[in-house]
Amino acid sequence: MSLLPLHLLGSPVLRQHSDPVKAVDDEVRRLIDDMFETMDAARGIGLAANQVGISRRVAIVDVDHDRFAMVNPRIVEAEGRVVAEEGCLSIPEIYGDVARAERVVLEALDANGLPYRKEATGLKARAIQHEIDHLDGILFLDHLSLIKRQMLLAKWRREHKDDAGHTKEVSEAPARSE
Ligand code: NI
Repeated sequence: MSLLPLHLLGSPVLRQHSDPVKAVDDEVRRLIDDMFETMDAARGIGLAANQVGISRRVAIVDVDHDRFAMVNPRIVEAEGRVVAEEGCLSIPEIYGDVARAERVVLEALDANGLPYRKEATGLKARAIQHEIDHLDGILFLDHLSLIKRQMLLAKWRREHKDDAGHTKEVSEAPARSE
């Protein structure tokens, strides 16, 4: 397994609509393993493949000791609405309140290519929606009001104006950022 560089706000791959996976093969399984390792090192609770530069419909979540991969995920039921603060490994140190469905039912393939169905509420439901958004090129910032988004983008630009690129290496023992 290996740690993958994280793509940050400004990297075009984050804005792409990711391609469906045609076959869950060893390459996809390796990607999933590397994504789990990278997410753990970055202390995240979810990660989408385009956040590591791969425009395929693969994402992972780890909430409440439930760790799962989602290949070609889709939400087949959604209900309720709850607002809570979100962050994103691709937009470190930026947070905003986002309204999401309170309960969702997910359908996806697992790392063996087998279809499954999962019901989730609360933070897990939120993480699933956030990661599927990534696969469609959507960031949590897009759900904020225009004024809030512009404020956070201005803060981001101030703090990142000297960055050489739009990726960040993840180290094994990062500072906690949540
Ligand atoms: Ni994210």
